[in-house]
Amino acid sequence: MSALIAANWKMHKTVAEATAYLDELFERLAALELTATQLAVCPPFTALGPAIARCRGRGVGVFAQNMHEQERGAFTGEVSAPMLIELGVSGVVLGHSERRQYFGESDRALAAKVPAALEAGLAPLLCVGETARERERGDTEGRLRDQVEHDLEAVAPERLGDVAIAYEPIWAIGTGVVATPDQAQAAIAFIRALVRDRSADAAGRMRILYGGSVTPENAGELLALPDVDGALVGGASLSPESFAAIAASATP
Ligand code: PGA
Repeated sequence: MSALIAANWKMHKTVAEATAYLDELFERLAALELTATQLAVCPPFTALGPAIARCRGRGVGVFAQNMHEQERGAFTGEVSAPMLIELGVSGVVLGHSERRQYFGESDRALAAKVPAALEAGLAPLLCVGETARERERGDTEGRLRDQVEHDLEAVAPERLGDVAIAYEPIWAIGTGVVATPDQAQAAIAFIRALVRDRSADAAGRMRILYGGSVTPENAGELLALPDVDGALVGGASLSPESFAAIAASATP
């Protein structure tokens, strides 16, 4: 399976900044052999359309950072899966810890969002991860189990392998404190075992990424871990130079 390296821009980049970034990124990628790596950028909603126009035919996917589970309705400020599909969006980040922490994103909403994304034809990238306190208390596996089981409960076993999961320990996001290779491997192998309990086929097919303070310096070691199928990159994805360097480190 090819690795997926996704750039989570969060609330960064105007349309002008996004298109300038992509032009530089494509120049940098042209110098690389990325046959076994799939790339995606996750711009804010306002830059999705222009990013899709720039990425067409370039082999870089464009993902949204969130969506509502309903197709339409009285949900002021929200965006639905069919609206994203119409633009040409190929996937969607769901359940990022910043959405859980600041915007009240619940496992209940995610249990509806993940199948809604699949149904519409978007590739869901579900984020899960424990807090520092949960890790200190020895609750990492319990937290991951809760999130994976709840958020995926309404996904049929035959579609489970089409979901990607990003394991993002909250204490590693934006802190510069990256998980050790042992911590990342153990958590991701645990998530894969949870998926295997529901479907062996899905566990084999599912991409499970690591996220949290990934940089060009640490990406190679993380991406070489046996269960790690890619990376979700925040801060270090904001410069085309460092994002291209991370992409290059995924190349076998
Ligand atoms: P970071 O963010 O790479 O800046 O730690 C990762 C993420 O939030 O997805």
